[in-house]
Order: sequence, then structure tokens, then C-alpha cells
Amino acid sequence: MTEPHEIPDRLAELLQSARSITVLTGSGVSAESGVPTFREALTGLWATFDPEELATRSAFLRNPRLVWEWYAERRRTVQRVEPNPGHFALARLEQMVPNLTLITQNVDGLHQRAGSRRVLELHGNITQVKCFDEDTAVAAWPEDEQVPPRCPRCGGLLRPDVVWFGEALPAQALRAAMLASRNCDLFFSVGTSGVVEPAASLPYDALRARVPMIEINPDSTPLSRHATFRLVGPSGLLLPLLIERTWGHDAVRASSQSDAR
Ligand code: OAD
Repeated sequence: MTEPHEIPDRLAELLQSARSITVLTGSGVSAESGVPTFREALTGLWATFDPEELATRSAFLRNPRLVWEWYAERRRTVQRVEPNPGHFALARLEQMVPNLTLITQNVDGLHQRAGSRRVLELHGNITQVKCFDEDTAVAAWPEDEQVPPRCPRCGGLLRPDVVWFGEALPAQALRAAMLASRNCDLFFSVGTSGVVEPAASLPYDALRARVPMIEINPDSTPLSRHATFRLVGPSGLLLPLLIERTWGHDAVRASSQSDAR
């Protein structure tokens, strides 16, 4: 575990002088809000399933009710939790550096709720749904009738507006993420196991462009041994600490107060 005094001076200096920062987040960032990480989420009723058995088009076609209900439960969790100090620190970072690109694999919308304004969502958003057949967004749907509910336009099945295994990521967001990873002064990989492509390649894109790469995670990942700096611990603790070490205590206080929407 990285202690406060162990945040390297060199890292604080790099952060202070950086004009452009790219941050990739994963479900670990929301763990301290009470959202289980992607791989932890398969507990209880769903413990016997492999993530790939639930988060695919073929799983949905095989058992739409099961897949809808798994996401519906996760959606309810997301709606009752709050952003944590890690989300607020990233929203603060956006104000402290001239150019911050926040790329997230999370579908929970907590970065935006903490005040981050520019967020590239690579895997969609669980609070939104779309028609399976038409692939178009649906603003409202009946919760109490069929499961999954039906598309009000065409009668097809509704599904969560998230990216499933085997599906393409939103092309524009992915392109912007790849560009931002290569063209920044510092790259952070926070709370992700770094095993799901193409997001998992982004830190390597940064490294190939000779950008210092910082990993924040309580555990080690395949990326850890490549990290220029490793901060070992929960992001809800370490991100505010990093801001405090770089810009002082007042910068962190502001992050937990005024940014929330
Ligand atoms: P994972 O569940 O694979 O990994 C979560 C990571 O968060 C792990 O490395 C944990 O060690 C770390 N972690 C746990 N608690 C943390 C904390 N408090 N602070 C910081 N880190 C913490 O989730 P992701 O890497 O997000 O995609 O998974 C990536 C993608 O895989 C998901 O977006 C999902 C899945 O396939 C789709 O559904 C398309």
C-alpha cells in the first residue's frame, strides 16, 4: 500500500507541469461507491455464470430475461450509490490541467455525476437502453410488463445500451481515446484489470509514445510491471492524495464540494 509520504516527488512535479493528461478508468474506481467491480459482480444468483455468458448477444438471444435482469439489478445499484472521492478527484483534475481526457470502461455514469465534463464512454452506459433489432436508443420503457420490455416503435426486445463481448466499441470514442493516449504528457490507468481489449492496449499506446504511465490499483495487473510509477491502494484514497501532494490541501477540498451536480 502506498503511504501518503510515498507519493514520489517526481510524480507530483510531472503532474504539476503536465499540460495534457489522459486517464483510463475501470470498475475499480467505482468499488468504493459500492458498485461491485465487473468480475466481482457475478455473485449471488449470477455466481455460476461466466461474464462472457451474460455480456454477449448470443447470451441475450438464448436467455433475454436472465441478461436483462442481471443488468437491471446493476442499474438499480448504480442509481442508489454516489460518486466517491476518486471520482471527485478526477473531476478536479479536469479543472487543474489545460487538457484532460477521461476514458472510462465504466457504464455507471459516476464520473459525470461527480462533475467530469468530458468523458469518453468506451462501453456505453447502463442507465440507457436501446432496441436490440433497430440499435436505436429508447428514452422510456414499461418496467412492469414483459421482461425484457418491448421497443415502443417496433416491438423488438430492449437491451442495455452497453458494449457486449464481440461487439464493436463506439468508433468515434475509441478513435479519440487512442489519439489521446498517444498524445499526452502523462497517462493514468486506474482501477482496471487491463485485460479486455481494445481498452487494455491504450496504456501500451502511451508507453510506445514514451509517455510516463502511472497505475493506481490495490492489486497487480499485467500492466503493473510496465508502469513508470505504481501507486498501490484504492483510488478513492490515492487520487485525492495525489492532488493534495501536487496542488495542496485546498485543491482536494474543492474537489469534494463544488463539483457534484
Ligand atoms: P475488473 O473487474 O476486471 O477489474 C477491476 C480492477 O479494479 C481490478 O484490477 C481490481 O484490483 C481493481 N480495484 C478493486 N478495487 C479498487 C479500488 N478501490 N481502487 C482501485 N482499483 C480497484 O474490471 P474492469 O477492468 O473495469 O466490459 O473490466 C474491464 C471491462 O471488462 C469492463 O468494462 C467490462 C468487462 O468486460 C464490458 O462489459 C464490455
